[in-house]
Formats: sequence, C-alpha cells, structure tokens
Amino acid sequence: MALIPFDDRDGVIWFDGKLIPWREANVHVICHGLHYGSAVFEGERAYEGQIFKSKEHTARLFKSAELLGMSIPFSQDEINAAKEAVLKANNLVDAYIRPVAWRGSEQMGISAQATKTHVAIACWEWPSYFSPELREKGISLKTSTWHKPAPDTAPCHAKAAGLYMINTLSKHQAEKDGYVDALMLDYRGNPVEATGANLFRIKNGVIRTPKPDCFLNGITRQTVMQLAAELGYSLEEETITMDDLLAADEVFITGTAAEVTAIGKIDQTEYSVGPVTRALRDAYESLVRGKPYKHSAAA
Ligand SMILES: Cc1ncc(COP(=O)(O)O)c(C=O)c1O
Repeated sequence: MALIPFDDRDGVIWFDGKLIPWREANVHVICHGLHYGSAVFEGERAYEGQIFKSKEHTARLFKSAELLGMSIPFSQDEINAAKEAVLKANNLVDAYIRPVAWRGSEQMGISAQATKTHVAIACWEWPSYFSPELREKGISLKTSTWHKPAPDTAPCHAKAAGLYMINTLSKHQAEKDGYVDALMLDYRGNPVEATGANLFRIKNGVIRTPKPDCFLNGITRQTVMQLAAELGYSLEEETITMDDLLAADEVFITGTAAEVTAIGKIDQTEYSVGPVTRALRDAYESLVRGKPYKHSAAA
C-alpha cells in the first residue's frame, strides 16, 4: 500500500485553537521546535468513538511540556474538548490522535524564553501498529547498541521529540537486520522498552516489568498492570536483566499504538505466544471498547 504523505491529506487539524484545513497546518522552517527539539507530543487511540484515557494523555502532555520548561496556553479541559472536536470533524470513530506542542519562531537560538508554545491536534485512521499475522506469532526485537539516557542526562519522563532520536536510529538498524523493532537498554544495560512501548516478561506465571525510573511510565503499562492485578496474576515491578529476559517463558510489550503485543523473538532467542500474554491482550482489547474483560482471566 502506497504511503500517503502526511502533509497532503484531506481533513482538518486543530491548530492553536481553531480547526483548519489539513494542508494548511504548517509551521515556518525557522522554528525552535524543529531546530532544537523543543516539542512534546502524545499518541492516543479512539475506539468506537471514545478516546481511551483521554484525560490521562492530556495530563501527560502538560507534564511533558512542564519538564521542558514550556507552558501550554490552553487548559487541559480545552485540549480534551479539542480532541473530541477534531475526531468528530474528521468523521473518525476508530483513530489515532496526535497532539503536539512546540516552541515557535518568535526567537531563534538556544535561549528560547520569548518563544510561544503552539499546539496542534491531528487524527487519522490507524488500525493496528503491527499486522494481525505478526501480532499472532509475536514480533521480533533486535537489541539496540544505543542505551537510554540516565535521568540526570535528559528529561526522560517527558514524551519529548528529542528523546526519540535514538529510538529512530535503533528501529532503523533493527529493520535493516530483518527485525520488526528494537529492544532498548537503559543506561545500566538492562532491557526496558521497545522503541515505542513498555516491556513485560513472564516466568513461571509471574509477570515482571522494570520500574519506570528512566523511561516513560506508559499509560497502557499502568492499565495492563491494573488488569493483571484484577485478573489475579502476580506482578513485580523490578529490574529485568538481559539474562532474565532471555530465560522468560513469555515476553510482551505495551503501548497505545502497540496495545498488548507478544514478542516472538529477541536477537536469536525465540518465544511462543503464551497464555498470560493472550489473556492480558484479550482483556485489554475488551477494556478499551468498554466490554467486560474479567472472563478473559487464565484459569
Ligand atoms: C518510548 C515509549 N515508551 C513507552 C510508550 C508507551 O506509552 P503509552 O502506553 O502511554 O502509549 C511509548 C508510547 O507512547 C513510547 O513512545
């Protein structure tokens, strides 16, 4: 399927308070966000017309902006309403929603005290991050040579554009080597994430996921942890070493885009898609659509 360029599509985008035609939602090339990476964003999904955890995503957008010293000139309620408006104006019910806030063109240089923070919200149809076949057999991950920065090296709890530089490099390298995504290690050398999703491993029925002390505490991660507790699984928030991961019975990742996706291979080690991953994946798919999910629990 040919990719339709993102600057040449029909529809409308919410831009600094107004809905404007998609192709007119432009910024100037001299823009602080572009030159210095002063931009934060969100990735959200709407299921059957309902934006999942909309308020939580908006709160994180504001937190990310604050961590970068940016002040969003709208209230959280206004951004929540804008997301609903843009979804409706584009006639979408199952969609991906992308709010972004960035420093503008008012000042150019490292110091950006005089810049204004601009906000745009776009949405588009995006059925599944990975194909259904891949999701069924589990995706492959290649360990990246890049390590995620330490908490005193970068604002690692922000969903900030600049932090994705190594993720893009890592994903490109993984794809070049025939893998679907990259496995990211933290500054200590422990596996913590894929390039856009959090990591879980299961051994002898116990689920383990690393503490988010230097990476994004994903909203899906928090949701799945809650689901795991409700479904009666034991879950520990603890360091996972590379050895732990390679010895796991099941591995899966979570994210708004990835949802709950099983891992079928890490480097040379293969995994099967197991019952815990399936139960949590089914429960998550029911929950986001407002359907009952407790029956999904493994016996
Ligand atoms: C690097 C990274 N980690 C984790 C996540 C998962 O976050 P969430 O579940 O809030 O989408 C994402 C996706 O936003 C991400 O880009």
